[in-house]
Amino acid sequence: MSISLKMRQHKVQGQRNLHQHLDTIRMLCGGKKSYFAAAVCIITLTSMVTLSYLRLQRLSHLPKIIQEGSRCRGKITNSTITALKDNRTFIIAPYFDDRESKTTRVIAIVHHEDVKELYCWFCCQPNGKIYVSKAKIDVHSDRFGFPYGAADIVCLEPENCDPTHVSIHQSPHGNIDQLPRFEIKNRKAETFSVDFTVCISTMFGNYNNVLQFIQSIEMYKILGVQKVVIYKNNCSQLMEKVLKFYMEEGTVEVIPWPINSHLKVSSKWHFTMDAKDIGYYGQITALNDCIYRNMQRSKFVVLNDADEIILPLKHPDWITMMSSLQEQNPGTGIFLFENHIFPETISTHMFNISSWNTVPGVNILQHVHREPDRKDVINPRKMIIDPRKVIQTSVHSVLRAYGNIVNVPMDVALIYHCRVPLQGNLPRESLIRDTTLWRYNSSLIVNVNKVLHQTVL
Ligand SMILES: *[C@@H]1O[C@H](CO)[C@@H](O)[C@H](O)[C@H]1NC(C)=O
Ligand SMILES: *[C@@H]1O[C@H](CO)[C@@H](O)[C@H](O)[C@H]1NC(C)=O
Ligand SMILES: *[C@@H]1O[C@H](CO)[C@@H](O)[C@H](O)[C@H]1NC(C)=O
Ligand SMILES: *[C@@H]1O[C@H](CO)[C@@H](O)[C@H](O)[C@H]1NC(C)=O
Ligand SMILES: *[C@@H]1O[C@H](CO)[C@@H](O)[C@H](O)[C@H]1NC(C)=O
Repeated sequence: MSISLKMRQHKVQGQRNLHQHLDTIRMLCGGKKSYFAAAVCIITLTSMVTLSYLRLQRLSHLPKIIQEGSRCRGKITNSTITALKDNRTFIIAPYFDDRESKTTRVIAIVHHEDVKELYCWFCCQPNGKIYVSKAKIDVHSDRFGFPYGAADIVCLEPENCDPTHVSIHQSPHGNIDQLPRFEIKNRKAETFSVDFTVCISTMFGNYNNVLQFIQSIEMYKILGVQKVVIYKNNCSQLMEKVLKFYMEEGTVEVIPWPINSHLKVSSKWHFTMDAKDIGYYGQITALNDCIYRNMQRSKFVVLNDADEIILPLKHPDWITMMSSLQEQNPGTGIFLFENHIFPETISTHMFNISSWNTVPGVNILQHVHREPDRKDVINPRKMIIDPRKVIQTSVHSVLRAYGNIVNVPMDVALIYHCRVPLQGNLPRESLIRDTTLWRYNSSLIVNVNKVLHQTVL
């Protein structure tokens, strides 16, 4: 039986119910003359039709068996970005998600107008039943004008089986053997293996800020991080060497991110600044994938860029800071920290370490002046989150989450962000000298030297 007989039966049944309701209403309303009766008829009609329609909608999302006794033979795909045949849908990875109902949530990139209908094909072992369920396609609201954006493709799973793999297709018909199959991650319950994972989205453009990168990673480690996930589009040869070192050390996990071989990517965040297919190398999709990828293994996930470090002011590290914040904010899973610019154009002579001057990149220890707040400008925020509390994230906020969200005040922590200035014409005297970073100077220098001697020096 290759065609979806049961599914058709479902649909036919639903349509038959709708027709029966209409007949009933016609019978009831026929001949009645009074306005009251007419009103009752209309209300009844509307509610019955709506109920039937809703029932039809709900049924269409339930998984249906379409084939029995098959074998799950499609080729398993391990690439991070897989184009479907429509060239409008790009699959990143499916994740099991039973926080609301038993579903597979596929993190993807879709064209916001062209992709309207998709189906999950689940192959259940060992009996070889194939279930198809219609996906809800939820394109994230933060597309910033670009035609392509992050999307969740969410499918109800069959109740009586726990599929390990899924295929995504534009149609409920076809031959599953010819569809790429993806492993559904997060199926098995796990206990946390790390406290903090930092997600660095999209390293691109021949990235070569080696010294600042090593300093950031060493700072994260001092603050309590065990894992840094990097979505790598492209970087320099020297940077490759540093990444290899950190991968062998077990700190860094590199996720290849060849998005430019599928779409025209913008290095800007808004379509009006650079009219391409997708914004900022698909950063938002990478961040969402990173949250689900680490949902089971990491107690907290930190979403920031490689030139940003959340510096605690009252606590020595993130562990003590987060326990205190959690204690003060029960039920909170999202903690937002305020970004502050420390311009790389304003230096101090302190910590000018001569052996570091041959390494490409910025020495953050020499930049301890921060730009003052501007009137009418809200400082953007970055986040430390409990990944299990997040459904969809953006860069500076979460779009959908469970539980509360808290803005962490400036006296608890700030984001040290060393980059080109935003207020470039301010004289040095107008900046605020802030040497919080220097509290870590001795361990940071020792640790950075160790890495430099094993990689680039
Ligand atoms: C994908 O990964 C699985 C499990 O790690 C492996 O068995 C399979 O050979 C890989 N497939 C490809 C095409 O690399
Ligand atoms: C999809 O994109 C690939 C690569 O850009 C191209 O070779 C192929 O012709 C496209 N297919 C369709 C159906 O547009
Ligand atoms: C990385 O990107 C730059 C341009 O942004 C390009 O010149 C370079 O060849 C790329 N390197 C690799 C290894 O792809
Ligand atoms: C650091 O030291 C080098 C040589 O010792 C000097 O050329 C450079 O100007 C110094 N840089 C800063 C920012 O002090
Ligand atoms: C560097 O760190 C040491 C030890 O942690 C501290 O005593 C010293 O004051 C720090 N240096 C500066 C300039 O802050």
